[in-house]
Amino acid sequence: MPANQKLVLITGVSRGLGRALAEEFIRLGHVVLGCGRSEKEIGQLQKQFSAPHNFAVVDVSADEQVAAWAKRILKSHGAPDLVLNNAGMINRNAPLWQVSAREFSDVIDVNLKGTANVIRHFVPEMVKRRSGLIVNFSSGWGRSTDAEVAPYCATKWAIEGLTQALAQELPPGMAAVPLNPGIINTDMLQSCFGDSASGYPTPQEWAKIAVPFLLKLGPSDNGKPLTVPVRGAND
Ligand SMILES: NC(=O)c1ccc[n+]([C@@H]2O[C@H](COP(=O)([O-])OP(=O)(O)OC[C@H]3O[C@@H](n4cnc5c(N)ncnc54)[C@H](OP(=O)(O)O)[C@@H]3O)[C@@H](O)[C@H]2O)c1
Repeated sequence: MPANQKLVLITGVSRGLGRALAEEFIRLGHVVLGCGRSEKEIGQLQKQFSAPHNFAVVDVSADEQVAAWAKRILKSHGAPDLVLNNAGMINRNAPLWQVSAREFSDVIDVNLKGTANVIRHFVPEMVKRRSGLIVNFSSGWGRSTDAEVAPYCATKWAIEGLTQALAQELPPGMAAVPLNPGIINTDMLQSCFGDSASGYPTPQEWAKIAVPFLLKLGPSDNGKPLTVPVRGAND
């Protein structure tokens, strides 16, 4: 691999921010290893971007699926340089007492346990090599709160704490950061913002700023809560 080419692992690449990140990293010459649950979208990505890129149907909330994915990828590509724990979901807008136990668990399983599953299976090889960066997707709602998104807020506040603790465990040469991506017009934003989501940047516009920002991060950023510098990010 050319010295400045990065091996980038991204969860949740079938749409939204993950897809835009995958396409922008590839456009800039990096190798992307992505996952998502939707077979159709993952199949399309695999057709559009052949090896060395790799796209797999994996549900990050299922530890055994993540374990099998990591085993395959670590064997074929080795340890990633950059892990982007992007896959996420939000509860349908509702006061906490109206959120079913099932929906509450789903949000925790994907946003929080899914992130831990990826760390459990990919990070040991990065630690052995003593290099690499782990970016866990947080939110403005990981640092503030609003009505009707309590389960989501709970997971993103947890991501901030989990990531800062992880940062204290990593050897020198590595970094873990919680990242607020800003406010971007995706399916998720449409779910919680409704029609006003259309006033925010598209994932493609966002990725043009986010990818260079991510590529500049290094060990000196370890443990820092970061925000992609896009319009609306500090609202
Ligand atoms: N958009 C925003 O303004 C905003 C703001 C703050 C934070 N964020 C955070 O940014 C990240 C991306 O959000 P987004 O707006 O792009 O959301 P999105 O449009 O809803 O896309 C979510 C992605 O995650 C994948 N995913 C969901 N559950 C998964 C699972 N169990 N296993 C694997 N993949 C899964 C989805 O693919 P499948 O359905 O195919 O699995 C999809 O590719 C999330 O962590 C979100 O919390 C977004």
